[in-house]
Amino acid sequence: MSITLPFRPRRNRKTAAIRDLVRETELNAGHLILPMFLQEGGSSEPISSMPGCQRWCLADLVKEATEAYALGIPAVVLFPRIPDEQKTPGAEECHNPDGLVPRAIRAIKAACPGLLVITDVALDPYNSDGHDGLVAPDGQILNDETVAVLCRQALCHAHAGADIVAPSDMMDGRVEALREALDMEAFTDVSIMSYAAKYASAYYGPFRGALESAPKSGDKKTYQMDPANAREALREAALDEAEGADILMVKPAGPYLDILARIRDHTTLPLAAYQVSGEYLMIKSAAAAGWVDEAKVVYESLIGIRRAGADMILTYFAKEMAIRLREGKVSR
Ligand code: PBG
Repeated sequence: MSITLPFRPRRNRKTAAIRDLVRETELNAGHLILPMFLQEGGSSEPISSMPGCQRWCLADLVKEATEAYALGIPAVVLFPRIPDEQKTPGAEECHNPDGLVPRAIRAIKAACPGLLVITDVALDPYNSDGHDGLVAPDGQILNDETVAVLCRQALCHAHAGADIVAPSDMMDGRVEALREALDMEAFTDVSIMSYAAKYASAYYGPFRGALESAPKSGDKKTYQMDPANAREALREAALDEAEGADILMVKPAGPYLDILARIRDHTTLPLAAYQVSGEYLMIKSAAAAGWVDEAKVVYESLIGIRRAGADMILTYFAKEMAIRLREGKVSR
């Protein structure tokens, strides 16, 4: 790149119109995925650890999801709060065909067939130990035994009509196993969005509060990644791609923009980023205290994630962002 001096970069910023012309990254509702919490029973409930979010009952879930779709949001991802009495060491409830998630998938697809339904594939909401995998008596998280259960879970979601399954468990070899299990039952059109680089992050705290799914003992560091590692994320991404993932994900998003950018340079697959509960809560609470301008900070956080290389973003701000985009109220 050669630059002739004097050059005045401010010429390209002199008016809103020219800033529109030279803008390198766009954000629209079509880039957003709304994570939704759901629970049994006939009424919805605000989530104390995530102000502004609710655990929806099925009827309200369908209504909210339909509204999101009308705002231009193409997809939702479902996270169930499983009643304690249904949690077991074997997490069997995760593949119950009449369980909360399959009922929710069927209800959403019936009301709003165009909306993509993504499901979370992991055992933590169902497992009495609160881990994403099965726990051996000595406390080890069992890999291959867990993968077998994840396959049953994904098939249960596919039978109910899920468009995309999203394994968030970080067990080895699960993408290949899921692809094989889905294809064996002729679900060749069900996509896999793989949490390829999912870090062992304290930013998940509010989410675990929402689902009461925190691990009963130990932590998730033997399966989720060390926040200090970047090269390892490239290996995880390459593996999931080779195993047949359709979309790769990085999670959390904001503190891991370098990981997004590096994976972007190493794959031609679409890339998703998850702006997680702790990222949401930090913005929400600072805004509630009057310390930052919520609308502006939300836009900036999301455009930053797009700029780093994400094609799509899972964010609890999806609806409010889509509303502001529709109203043309995005200050840039
Ligand atoms: C569990 C799962 C978690 C999140 C999504 N799926 C929590 C965890 O791994 O402990 C976190 C999402 C968020 O914090 O918003 N499989």
